[in-house]
Amino acid sequence: MIYRNATIDDIEAVARLQQKYHVSTIDEKDKKDGFVTTLFTHDQFKEIIEKENGLAIACDSLGIVGYAMAASWEFWSKWPLFQFMIEDLPSTTYLGEVLSKENSYQYGPICIDKAYRGTEVLANLFEFSRQQMEKRYPIMITFINHINPRSYEAHTRKLGLDVIKNFDFNNNHYYELGYDMKKKTLGSTI
Ligand SMILES: CC(C)(COP(=O)(O)OP(=O)(O)OC[C@H]1O[C@@H](n2cnc3c(N)ncnc32)[C@H](O)[C@@H]1OP(=O)(O)O)[C@@H](O)C(=O)NCCC(=O)NCCS
Repeated sequence: MIYRNATIDDIEAVARLQQKYHVSTIDEKDKKDGFVTTLFTHDQFKEIIEKENGLAIACDSLGIVGYAMAASWEFWSKWPLFQFMIEDLPSTTYLGEVLSKENSYQYGPICIDKAYRGTEVLANLFEFSRQQMEKRYPIMITFINHINPRSYEAHTRKLGLDVIKNFDFNNNHYYELGYDMKKKTLGSTI
């Protein structure tokens, strides 16, 4: 498996994976194993690649089998849920620091094709994404919907993220989680 930053040429394949597992288009029987909620347009994929170098992908001979996003709060501020999270940063403390747009960034969504779940792809894709951002930020922040238990287990028990708080937005319940960027990812081999 190869882990690398996506280029413009990868957008079509990543968009296909997004469509397969986005809450609005996912096959109903796959929903219990998680889904992504932030929907990227072609231009937003282009922007995260060009401005943030923030689209990490896992590829094998069959193509792209997983992706993980990572970007500054500035990038995410066009979505209302992230505006809510940004406004709440000064009221949130993690690792002894009050969060800010300067000391933290937002990781996610991550999405792995179901044929590759339960493998080393999770830890390695997360680790690759972490390595890209560790020089820019000391703290990673993300969120998970309460109705996505697989993602919650993967990120807390397996990858070691900490739950910082719960919050509600648009009638959905979310965990807000953090990760100390100094820590190499548990179980990663890259
Ligand atoms: C979330 C995701 C990236 C996790 O990667 P993964 O390879 O599936 O993760 P793993 O299988 O290694 O770990 C998940 C763990 O949760 C467990 N699990 C699965 N369904 C579960 C459920 N309903 N309740 C509790 N635990 C569950 C799995 O058994 C596994 O634990 P184990 O390894 O001890 O058996 C992947 O499932 C995915 O892409 N899902 C679709 C998109 C998505 O939900 N993205 C995250 C949005 S926040």
